[in-house]
Amino acid sequence: MNPSPEVLILGSGAAGLSAALRLAEAGHRVTVVSKGPLASGSTLWAQGGISAALDQDDSLAAHVHDTLIAGAGLCDVEAVRFTVEHGPEGIDWLLQHGVAFTQSDEDLNGRRLHLTREGGHSHRRVVHAADATGFAVETTLADLASRHPLIQVLERSVAVDLIVDRDAPRVHGVYLYDRNSKRVDAVAAKAVLLATGGANQVYLYSSNPFGASGDGIAMAWRAGCRVANMEFMQFHPTTLYHRDSRSFLITEALRGEGATLHLPTADGKVGERFMPRFDERAELAPRDIVARAIDHEMKRLGVKHVWLDISHKPGDFVRTHFPSIYAHCLSLGIDITQAPIPVVPSAHFTCGGVMTDLRARTDLPGLYAAGEVACTGLHGANRLASNSLLECLVFAQAAADDLIRELPHLPEPPTLRPWDESRVSDSDEDVVVSHNWLELRTFMWDYVGIVRTSKRLLRAQHRVDLLRREIVEFYRNYRITHHLIELRNLVTVAELIVSSALSRRESRGLHYTLDYPQTDSTPEPTILKP
Ligand code: FAD
Ligand code: SIN
Repeated sequence: MNPSPEVLILGSGAAGLSAALRLAEAGHRVTVVSKGPLASGSTLWAQGGISAALDQDDSLAAHVHDTLIAGAGLCDVEAVRFTVEHGPEGIDWLLQHGVAFTQSDEDLNGRRLHLTREGGHSHRRVVHAADATGFAVETTLADLASRHPLIQVLERSVAVDLIVDRDAPRVHGVYLYDRNSKRVDAVAAKAVLLATGGANQVYLYSSNPFGASGDGIAMAWRAGCRVANMEFMQFHPTTLYHRDSRSFLITEALRGEGATLHLPTADGKVGERFMPRFDERAELAPRDIVARAIDHEMKRLGVKHVWLDISHKPGDFVRTHFPSIYAHCLSLGIDITQAPIPVVPSAHFTCGGVMTDLRARTDLPGLYAAGEVACTGLHGANRLASNSLLECLVFAQAAADDLIRELPHLPEPPTLRPWDESRVSDSDEDVVVSHNWLELRTFMWDYVGIVRTSKRLLRAQHRVDLLRREIVEFYRNYRITHHLIELRNLVTVAELIVSSALSRRESRGLHYTLDYPQTDSTPEPTILKP
């Protein structure tokens, strides 16, 4: 390993890579850590795009307004304004770094970008690269980072825990588990940025890749940071339902371009268009409303999916705007220009997370958080579509700006205590880890999903408690593995979600409980302190 970096960045998605590039471009030495390859995480899979008010008819005020409406009274207005105001700058930064967004002939203040539309947005304001925006962003930034002389990349390396001085609270580094050598090293840094993404793999069905196990949230919690709004887990309304394709998202932009949602008839054909019954914005209502409507109809009729139909649009339009979705569905025998797509909701986004201020600072000096791991106050009780990549860019910049100011004044980290190697025995109980993993994700789906009740939440709490005890024992007694690290974190995150959900005695945004269907007049965030 090279000499200690000034900043250790855990995570190589949009948040981690853009912070790394900004710091390195300002002359700072950084290390970027990824559990898998450098280009990985949810960013790689993002489809719809990045929201920013760029159109002449649009305004920052309208973007702020739409974000606040989606957030159902729980957004921090300052955080919303801060994010939205920095949006155009974030898009320009990506353009300068070579991200190839879909172009149009229209002139948007010198930018020639095509804007698409998604649920909850009053205007076309989503900048995109066809239907594979995340791929364009992630591969461009990963390529630049891997070639930058001041950026060291550690792949297949899993952060286990933050190393914290508890007496004079400050983070000094991180224990990193190397998936190749199976060794754990203590890596020191002046500052650490958590950019580890969300926790959506805590549910059985998720649009996210497997690494979305809430590691950053769990590590920050163990290190003493506050965590907020964990009950607001967002379910995306439309994931492909097909036995040979797990977790494949069908972007909301399809609905933005006119796709409609239908019930299946008794013989499985396309039936009633049902969203107008639930909301006047129909398919373009915010995600919580559409996902809940689908869930309601599926349970009412006992069907396994609903239909999403764009076959009424010209074939060329569909193929040009949605080439990846068209190709993926076609490979499964579904020609979306001719036939409807079977879809179901799945866990998609973690609105809550580690609390930060507008400089991306957490409660622990030296520790920053940006991207899906953080709770900045932007999303409140429900995230507006395409505001997540925007948040990654804006708060990575905020963290980098603050670090560039602070680094010259920060102390060098002390020599760190090595990892305790006394746990030398390998467990031969891998089956317990995989069994517990499945059990956790199944009961979270069944008891802590789109529609909740106090009884089911208590049932989940009881099971999380049992699992936690088992995992703690496992963790203390055996050599750690990648999957054990993730399971330990998922159990912590599940505990935070369930206790936040139990403490909210109302329904708001993504948290809907049959026991408290009303919405209170004085909204408060749910803040948990370790
Ligand atoms: P990620 O991109 O998830 O990256 C996390 C990184 O952290 C990875 O590199 C991972 O290896 C690393 N990591 C995690 N834990 C550890 C650990 N313990 N040690 C070391 N490294 C670790 N949002 C939008 O705004 N627009 C969209 O169109 C959109 N579409 C989406 C489509 C899909 C299918 C999905 C899943 C999400 C979509 N989202 C979208 C949400 C958005 O993509 C994510 O919120 C965002 O990409 C998160 O970026 P991030 O940088 O915070 O984390
Ligand atoms: C999508 O393309 O539907 C996902 C957009 C998002 O999660 O913001």
